[in-house]
Amino acid sequence: MSNAFATIRWEDDADGHLVVLDQTRLPGETVYLECRTVEDVWQAIKRLSVRGAPAIGVAAAYGVCVGVNEGRDVNEVCDYLATSRPTAVNLFWALERMRRVAEGSPTTGTVLPARPQPPILEVLLAEARAIDAEDRESCRAMARFGADLLDDLPVGAGILTHCNAGALVSGSGGGTALGVIFELARRGKRPRVFVDETRPLLQGARLTMWELMQRGVEAMLICDSVAAQVMREGRVQAVVTGADRIAANGDTANKIGTYGVAIVARAHQIPFYVAAPATTFDLSISSGADIPIEQRAAEEITHGFGKPTAPAGAAVYNPAFDVTPAELIAAIITDRGVVRPVNADTIRATVAL
Ligand code: MRU
Repeated sequence: MSNAFATIRWEDDADGHLVVLDQTRLPGETVYLECRTVEDVWQAIKRLSVRGAPAIGVAAAYGVCVGVNEGRDVNEVCDYLATSRPTAVNLFWALERMRRVAEGSPTTGTVLPARPQPPILEVLLAEARAIDAEDRESCRAMARFGADLLDDLPVGAGILTHCNAGALVSGSGGGTALGVIFELARRGKRPRVFVDETRPLLQGARLTMWELMQRGVEAMLICDSVAAQVMREGRVQAVVTGADRIAANGDTANKIGTYGVAIVARAHQIPFYVAAPATTFDLSISSGADIPIEQRAAEEITHGFGKPTAPAGAAVYNPAFDVTPAELIAAIITDRGVVRPVNADTIRATVAL
């Protein structure tokens, strides 16, 4: 089933601009933001109008085209976009790819090409489109591998998820963790999804519920603090989440609260799965201790969606992500196959192609 909305799209040819679905306005309003400057793209990523690891990478790739359209230098644009959010490694991966393709382009290279080459804007746009298309394909592959892995679950099994890892986290694909759930639904497994609301920005309540309801998948919204209770009640047979960065040993950064869910799942002997493309792995870092964790504004807690929700001047700690240790993860579903058990060797064998 294709998406009823476009998360990210490029408008017109090489001299066009980027359009993103403003996820901060969902589910109430479907508003598209036109990004005509690199600053627009940076802001869209920073304020979570476009969010979720793969989507951030795709948006940043198109963002480089926006910057070059403005007449800015590719490296300068990449450096700037890289400061938007620190945790999802897909951002840095995509920017690196854009840098490399620019370096190979006749406009910036030192060696004269033998044949006339397309202008750099066209080269960059082609690369951004390739990243977008590869992401769509990788969602399909993850959905297949994941649904095969979870094939033993009984019809109507309960699956808990945290944050949003659906079509909204992909340029034009079906998503990571939710992609697996959509595929299970397509195969007639009738999953019942427990959706953590995901404080403080409610990606679960606002976005995951919206996606599941649009697709007619049975879903129940719960406060984050209810996850342990539904597990104890025996209503959850598996947990599946996405990831923002996975270290070489399998330690996985994902939305704040994921670590707690993984511990509670282990306490109830419920398998905890992560779904993430190869582009979310960072094999340059050996463990999760090296994953940079984004700290976000206190107002997200003290003024939930604009309304005062804490006394004025309250001290706040607001990390956007936490790290789930590899030993709590039963398997990682990637676009290149399933990593199980999760350790440095199995990861290298699966994703370091
Ligand atoms: O802060 P967000 O909304 O960008 O966080 C997103 C998540 O944590 C997702 O679970 C993650 O990106 C996985 S989706 C591929």
